[in-house]
Amino acid sequence: MSPLSRTSVTSLATIGLFSIFPAAVLSQTSAFTDQATGIQFQRFFGARTNFGFGMALSTDTTSKSFIGQLTFPLSNGNGWGGWSLTGDMEGPLLMAAWSDGKGNVISSFRQAFNEDDNPPEVAGTFTLRPIAEATSVNNTFLTYTFLCENCLDAGLGLAPEVQSAEMGWALASRAVRNPASSAGVLDFHNSGFGDFKANLAGARNAEFDKWAALAGAPVTGAAGAKPFDVGAAGAGSGGSDDEGDGNNSSGGGGGDAGNDSDSDDD
Ligand SMILES: *[C@@H]1O[C@H](CO)[C@@H](O)[C@H](O)[C@H]1NC(C)=O
Ligand SMILES: *[C@@H]1O[C@H](CO)[C@@H](O)[C@H](O)[C@H]1NC(C)=O
Ligand SMILES: *[C@@H]1O[C@H](CO)[C@@H](O)[C@H](O)[C@H]1NC(C)=O
Ligand SMILES: *[C@@H]1O[C@H](CO)[C@@H](O)[C@H](O)[C@H]1NC(C)=O
Repeated sequence: MSPLSRTSVTSLATIGLFSIFPAAVLSQTSAFTDQATGIQFQRFFGARTNFGFGMALSTDTTSKSFIGQLTFPLSNGNGWGGWSLTGDMEGPLLMAAWSDGKGNVISSFRQAFNEDDNPPEVAGTFTLRPIAEATSVNNTFLTYTFLCENCLDAGLGLAPEVQSAEMGWALASRAVRNPASSAGVLDFHNSGFGDFKANLAGARNAEFDKWAALAGAPVTGAAGAKPFDVGAAGAGSGGSDDEGDGNNSSGGGGGDAGNDSDSDDD
């Protein structure tokens, strides 16, 4: 194997689970307006899965908050959907949402240290504040609109001033175990996952503060949530314009999973 192809293999392994087709042209977000609130998002939408994730940001590029909206189908009430602040699964701040089966959306912040295990719930200065007017769930579909406060930070994977970022999404139809808890166990995103390019400059809107004021009280995490590990988040790479994190093959920290599912060296 030539040194060049060896390098490509290594960087593919570094990119992680969210990128199956790193060479393909990334999906771009496009403008989408929520009918219930009038919030204007830049939204990634997957036509095959019907998964959507939209973001609205302040025109103040130092503001660390964004409004997010997850929309995705459920299978008999089961499944979960989520996003990553970068194109990687391992390291950055992740969020997932699902139904508790009783008419409520449960959500939590996660951080993955490998691609195989349920990513543990994490806590930090970031908070989720649901926007009830644009949140609903039934047996076949979930819509979750929320203010993600203090979620934009280079140490979490995406800095507030970034104009365009590669982000990740994931969708599962499998039941979350212990779904009433924000620490519910997430199985593999069997319905789909991937990267998309978020037009964050286009997501900035002068109405942001008005929309953010719709948000309710912060969601409280489960007692066992661990502090977010900035060291494992690939801190320093800041923006997420490119996925490879230089040429360090250790893959965004964490790196202590004895038998990794990636093809590393042999
Ligand atoms: C479930 O919610 C979706 C989205 O709001 C809606 O289109 C669908 O009709 C609802 N299904 C039922 C059975 O109410
Ligand atoms: C990446 O590789 C280049 C060329 O081999 C080297 O000069 C540089 O120090 C490496 N950077 C990192 C972060 O390892
Ligand atoms: C590469 O990864 C190792 C192990 O995580 C880390 O100690 C080192 O600082 C990294 N180097 C660069 C240039 O990122
Ligand atoms: C290694 O793989 C085995 C078999 O899949 C699994 O039981 C074990 O937990 C894995 N170990 C680590 C450290 O991931």
